[in-house]
Amino acid sequence: MKFFVDTADVGEIRKALAWGILDGVTTNPSLVAKTGRRFEDVRAEILQLVSGPVSLEVTDMTFDGMLTQGRALAELGPQVVVKLPLTREGIAACKALTDEGIRTNVTLCFTASQALLAAKAGATYISPFVGRLDDVSTDGMGVIADIVQIYGNYGYATQVLVASTRHPMHIVAAAKLGAHVCTVPYKVLDQLFNHPLTDLGNAQFLKDWAKVPGQS
Ligand code: G3P
Repeated sequence: MKFFVDTADVGEIRKALAWGILDGVTTNPSLVAKTGRRFEDVRAEILQLVSGPVSLEVTDMTFDGMLTQGRALAELGPQVVVKLPLTREGIAACKALTDEGIRTNVTLCFTASQALLAAKAGATYISPFVGRLDDVSTDGMGVIADIVQIYGNYGYATQVLVASTRHPMHIVAAAKLGAHVCTVPYKVLDQLFNHPLTDLGNAQFLKDWAKVPGQS
């Protein structure tokens, strides 16, 4: 399973890259707003740092506007994946941009039936939001299971990108279901490392190593 970091914060991206386990980045308008910086500056810096897929989202909600913005974003670099909302216009734009050879990530997906539309439109990625479903007492991972099964039934090439992940168990559940990608907030990526037995064991190894003759 690929790991993308779900952030527009360049500092977080640098730290995640340093671990050597990062495959790509996803952003959205809210994450860009959180940086307090201009989108043009943020995306240029991300594209300089990251060689894997970088999702950049359109903000014009018309079909023509999505095509214009999507083409302009795709021009910024080979890593760019154009993120489109799961609306009627977004799905039509997904089909048109896919036909032009531009990679797409259809976002704000909450049901398997919506995911089916994205696959039929040739989306590179579908982003179901598991955390936001869990927030409204709906089983987010159940939706992932349905999508993985449906895509498998028909051999759709669209990759399931589990989004709106909130804690390490979302990542484990996504991997058990065979999702292609998880996009993970930096804080949750960092949490994946943690186990008290790792820390205790390491401390003990170092303590014992100091007793080995010739070591200190
Ligand atoms: O980037 C889309 C998604 O991951 C947003 O997550 O936490 O705002 O529901 P969240």
